[in-house]
Amino acid sequence: MEIQIRNSIRFLLNDKLIERTAVSATETLLDFLRLERKLRGTKEGCAEGDCGACTVLVGRLFNGRLKYESVNACIRFVGSLDSCHVVTVDALAGKDGTLHPVQRAMVDTHASQCGFCTPGFVMSLYGLWMQDPHPSIEAIEKALQGNLCRCTGYAAIIRAAESISAVGDAKKDPLVAERARVTEQLLALRDGKRASIGEGKQQLILPANVDDFANVLEVNPGATIVAGSTDVGLWVTKFMREIGPVVFLSHLDELREVREDGDALVLGAGVTYTEAYPVIVRHFPQLKELWNRIGGEQVRNMGTVGGNVANGSPIGDTPPALIALGATVELRKGKVRRSVPIATYFIEYGKQDRAPGEFVEAIRIPHLNPDDLYAVYKISKRLDEDISSVCGAFRVGLNSQGRVERAVIAFGGMAGTPKRASAVEQTLIGAVWDEGAIDKAIAAFASDFTPLTDWRASADYRMLTAKNLLRRFYLETGGEKHVRLNRYDVAFG
Ligand SMILES: Cc1cc2nc3c(=O)[nH]c(=O)nc-3n(C[C@H](O)[C@H](O)[C@H](O)COP(=O)(O)OP(=O)(O)OC[C@H]3O[C@@H](n4cnc5c(N)ncnc54)[C@H](O)[C@@H]3O)c2cc1C
Ligand code: FES
Ligand code: FES
Repeated sequence: MEIQIRNSIRFLLNDKLIERTAVSATETLLDFLRLERKLRGTKEGCAEGDCGACTVLVGRLFNGRLKYESVNACIRFVGSLDSCHVVTVDALAGKDGTLHPVQRAMVDTHASQCGFCTPGFVMSLYGLWMQDPHPSIEAIEKALQGNLCRCTGYAAIIRAAESISAVGDAKKDPLVAERARVTEQLLALRDGKRASIGEGKQQLILPANVDDFANVLEVNPGATIVAGSTDVGLWVTKFMREIGPVVFLSHLDELREVREDGDALVLGAGVTYTEAYPVIVRHFPQLKELWNRIGGEQVRNMGTVGGNVANGSPIGDTPPALIALGATVELRKGKVRRSVPIATYFIEYGKQDRAPGEFVEAIRIPHLNPDDLYAVYKISKRLDEDISSVCGAFRVGLNSQGRVERAVIAFGGMAGTPKRASAVEQTLIGAVWDEGAIDKAIAAFASDFTPLTDWRASADYRMLTAKNLLRRFYLETGGEKHVRLNRYDVAFG
């Protein structure tokens, strides 16, 4: 079927329809709001997704359902907003100036001093309130991980979050009350066409569907693929890189599906961390802490597992966890698909097993053998919103004699790519799972890794941490208990 092309991007901004025929590939939502629309309630703090001062809500239809999420406007590209509803802090107060319940709660609990961070907090709390009007402390802290305040401190802000449900009823909120109307408006904007604006390095393309995405990439093999833009956004705002032509994928529902496929869980390449969370935690509860410590809420609402893998950073958090689980990267070029074990996908620093014009279509994660011991540990300078210094993932299967039958151990932050600890694994295989085996395996780390010193951690720190994580895994997963249990079974079974 021939694809029709539209030369504009259309979205709702608060209560206005925006249609733009001229958008640069690198124009951020924050610049658009502040410079073109003069909506200056949304602030610029860091311009790299870290501080949350630029938080806005973006509503998007998925399977006919409209959902609003907090995002960082500073690293979100305007081009990615087609058929979305952007809600900024400027739209919260009533026309007569009456504060929105979220703003009222911030005032009543004295949760603002200089006020610079306040619009961002308000929008994060607004997003939380719509999803969960009576949030637990855990939910509040999670929703605010991506917002920094330098003067008020967080206690008053958390009090505001706790008191919002008493200040107003979410059902009366305009975004809730007008959901049906906004849904209709957004549905009308979805015309099934490819959007294409500009030419050459300035071109941006939103393919009509995943087949069109494959075609567009074959024709433009040098184009930059943009999923959640939580890596690519910084190439623009921090490194001033030209990234055009750009091909967006976050609007493609086909790439946002999570499905069960026999003995595996399949995450489409456009599935965000937030979307993947419930199913990841159900299958792999050991990943709950790691998942909750990737970026902040806004980054998890935008960022994708596919982007984390495709980016190939040696300190990306999901690759070690996925290597240990034996995941595969499902690649596609045109109509041709292939599957690559994720452990071999990372060739060297900055180089992955992906040809020009090829893209990651999905990540396939086999279910964990229920008897396998599995854990992932992220070590970073800050607990929240920080990149790993070292991230270690461990999966070990024991036989009935308590000997190691299977061992897959992978690290981030220890080499130029996420990397398996092959010598450590070989030392463990066949050994009785006890302190002696751990000591021998620890001695093998030097054969696997020569880590670097950088501003996150020294080489010595990284090496010692990696070794200690193996011991921690052994102790936290029951230590010699397994050997004793298994021997007991053998003796008396
Ligand atoms: C404040 C902040 C905190 C962060 N914290 C963490 C953290 O704790 N842990 C962590 O691991 N990362 C972290 N990141 C990095 C980033 O969020 C992740 O790497 C994220 O998974 C990237 O996904 P994305 O969809 O945003 O990718 P994008 O930025 O859109 O793309 C990243 C790269 O992947 C390519 N790409 C994307 N999708 C595909 C595809 N389908 N096929 C082929 N290539 C593709 C792009 O071309 C680009 O090279 C953080 C980033 C920020 C801004
Ligand atoms: S300005 Fe700091 S997160 Fe956007
Ligand atoms: S009130 Fe000043 S930074 Fe938060």
